This record gives sequence, structure tokens and C-alpha cells, in this order.
Amino acid sequence: MNDKTPQPPGLPPSDWPELQPGWVWLCGAGPGDPGLMTLHGLNALRQADVVVHDALVSDAILDWAPQAEKIFAGKRGGKPSAKQSDISLRLVELACEGKRVLRLKGGDPFVFGRGGEEAQTLVQHGVPFRIVPGISAGIGGLAYAGIPVTHREFNQSVTFVTGHDQSGETPSSLDWEALARGSQVLVIYMGIKHARVIADALLAAGRAAEEPVAVVSNATLPGQQVMETTLAQLADDLDRSGIEPPAILCVGRNVAMRQILDWQGLQAG
Ligand SMILES: C[S@@+](CC[C@H](N)C(=O)[O-])C[C@H]1O[C@@H](n2cnc3c(N)ncnc32)[C@H](O)[C@@H]1O
Repeated sequence: MNDKTPQPPGLPPSDWPELQPGWVWLCGAGPGDPGLMTLHGLNALRQADVVVHDALVSDAILDWAPQAEKIFAGKRGGKPSAKQSDISLRLVELACEGKRVLRLKGGDPFVFGRGGEEAQTLVQHGVPFRIVPGISAGIGGLAYAGIPVTHREFNQSVTFVTGHDQSGETPSSLDWEALARGSQVLVIYMGIKHARVIADALLAAGRAAEEPVAVVSNATLPGQQVMETTLAQLADDLDRSGIEPPAILCVGRNVAMRQILDWQGLQAG
């Protein structure tokens, strides 16, 4: 942190909980823009002895805990990520050493974030913990692209889907036909790599070729990119675009709302 690092505002007066020695708080940092961190998250950052964080947590947020040791527990530069069981056990060790442990994850810890698995390990080892939810990329990230995840005109349901499973392949347990028939809007995390397979499966199951699709990468961050396309064009357009993860795919008629609600584009004139 340097002198120019913007400081977050102080916490408003309230009965903020204390992060006690030997505790782990599993906290979501939101999709990237530091302002989307919750006040409970900021309260945790202020107290932590150690912050165990993923790659998707921005440096600006980590800078809000200058006193804390930072332990990186994510995937970087295509290198294999730390084993999930090792990360979970590290949290247990740190807590048993009497540290105030903040486990900080991108988005929400319980949305495709393995927060449930880590919390299970804490329970198994008798480590006290608290869950601090965060704004998930599939909601907040779309909002930054001017896409309401629900809109009464278009959808009364939305389904959050992961585009790959533990093996890195498109999840074989997903019934794409049922998803295509049953959910008006699909919000797909980690879907870039398998976009062609996913689009083909949805088209084969009867979704319209011209159905709107948005790809939002680096949502809420300065490098945010949004690509609007159709289900039939998705894979080819993605290949041409050079868009890289992290990215969210949104399939549904709500995507068309961006034409009028792209608030960042409107501000830019
Ligand atoms: C392991 S999941 C974690 C999801 C996270 N727990 C959440 O609630 O947003 C990682 C995936 O989330 C999505 N994601 C997270 N942050 C994002 C961002 N800033 N922009 C676009 N997609 C993002 C991408 O699909 C990425 O591959």
C-alpha cells in the first residue's frame, strides 16, 4: 500500500462483530470493484491477522488489510491450483494457531466458490466460523453490463450453471435439454472454454438460434468487456473476440435490455 492508495470510508457506527482469535470468516469480496465489498467484509479486513485469498480478489481490496499476512490460494497463470483439501486444512491450522483468519473469495463464497466444502472442513475440526456473503458475478457482473438478471417482461426464473465440473469438462450431470426447456434465463459461470459445446446442446434442445447471449468478462473492473451475440453465433464470435476468463455467459431475452440499460455506455456518451 502506498500513500496514494484510496482508503475505504470508516465503518458506520454499529455493533460490528469481532473477528476473534481462532475463528475463520469465509467472506465474499464481490466480482472485483472494491466498492462492491460488503461492510461486514470490510470489518473483517480491518481485523484479520491473515487473509487467505483467491486470484479473483482484487489487490485494492487486499490493500485494505495492511496489517494482515496474505496467503494466495488460487490459480495463477494456468498453473494448477492448490488442492482444495490442502486449502481447507490450512485454514484449520491457522485457526488452531490462534490467528484471526479471513478466507476471502471472489463473488459469493457459496456460489461456485467451494465455500461449502471449506465450511464443512471447519465443522469437522471444530473451528468456529462465520459466513459473509458477497455479490456474485452472475448478478452484480451482469448489472454492471446493464443486464438485469430478471425482468418481469422476460423471465420469472433464472438458473445459475457451471460450465465445467471438477475434471474441467462440461458437467455430465447437467441435463441441458431440461435446462433449455425449463429456464428462461441461464447464467453460466466458467463457460467460456466449453461455449461451443454448451451452445450446441442448448440449440439441439430447442433454444432459438437468434436468442440473445451476452459474454461479460472482468465484470465491474476497469478492463470489463461485454460481447453481445446470439446463441448460434456465440462460439465463433468468442473465438474471434479474444475474450478471456473470468467471464459470465448470460443466455436469455433479458440480455436485450442492455440496449437501453447500458449505464456505463450511456455515461461514456
Ligand atoms: C470459481 S467461480 C467463482 C464464482 C464466485 N464465487 C461468484 O459468486 O461470482 C469463477 C467464475 O466466476 C465468474 N466470475 C467471477 N468474477 C468475475 C468477473 N469479475 N467477471 C466475469 N466473471 C466472473 C467467471 O465465470 C469465473 O470463471
